[in-house]
Amino acid sequence: MSGTVIEVSGLNKQFVKDDIGVVALRDFDLEIAEGTFVTVLGRSGCGKSTMLNLVAGLTTPTSGSVSYRGEPISGPRTEMGYLTQSDTLMPWRNVRRNVELPLEIGGVPAQRRRERAAELIDKVGLQGFERHYPRELSGGMRRRVSLARMLAGDPETLLMDEPFGALDAQLRGDLQAELLRLWEDSGQTVVFVTHDIEEALLMGDRVVVLGRIGRVVLDRPVDLPRPRDADELRVDPVFVALHRELTEAVREGAR
Ligand SMILES: Nc1ncnc2c1ncn2[C@@H]1O[C@H](COP(=O)(O)OP(=O)(O)O)[C@@H](O)[C@H]1O
Ligand SMILES: [Mg+2]
Repeated sequence: MSGTVIEVSGLNKQFVKDDIGVVALRDFDLEIAEGTFVTVLGRSGCGKSTMLNLVAGLTTPTSGSVSYRGEPISGPRTEMGYLTQSDTLMPWRNVRRNVELPLEIGGVPAQRRRERAAELIDKVGLQGFERHYPRELSGGMRRRVSLARMLAGDPETLLMDEPFGALDAQLRGDLQAELLRLWEDSGQTVVFVTHDIEEALLMGDRVVVLGRIGRVVLDRPVDLPRPRDADELRVDPVFVALHRELTEAVREGAR
């Protein structure tokens, strides 16, 4: 583990809607260390997606700066993969062709693309579905495809915006466990946004709790051993105490 990968400093973002300014983020600072899994927890509307879009280079700040390994971010970077809150699979491409997309963009030859896609489809448990189209898949399977597509770009940093938020509890649990398995020993840096306290604790090395307009209410390490098992964690006294602390922080953030 070494150094800072992402550095956000004095970030402000204001949207204008019907001539009225809406402040989504105010004076937001964040530093992400290499190889860490950081969860950002907060209620709906507190600016989580706005912040992630800025880090991903998809939007520009009203003021303040975001840098990646010391370089100012001025647009999307291939080192960062982004799993958005909503589905962005291409409906006219089957699973394999969706997963191949970042490789196509990167100019990887067809044969190599196909091999890499097959490997990733296998990794996320979708072997046999290569030729299915998104509309022929369940919500959980589509999330798996999105995950595989993000990994196909071989990103060193993963940005994830409530990636499993729309799934039922059982499926969410499966995908959380799979993501942790894929991440462990990968050396990848992860910024994972969620509104779910349990998820924030299950996944993160560190949790940052946001209140309104991105005010950082709490920023603390999560001292729970890995690999983590959700069923064991729920009865772990450290987890229970952290859960209580975060619940209080989220509540305070709403004030
Ligand atoms: N494109 C936009 N135009 C106007 N307001 C926006 C836009 N995107 C987000 N907002 C506003 O910014 C605030 C934060 O939104 P968002 O970042 O999506 O929150 P979260 O992801 O935490 O739910 C909200 O008040 C939302 O209405
Ligand atoms: Mg959001």
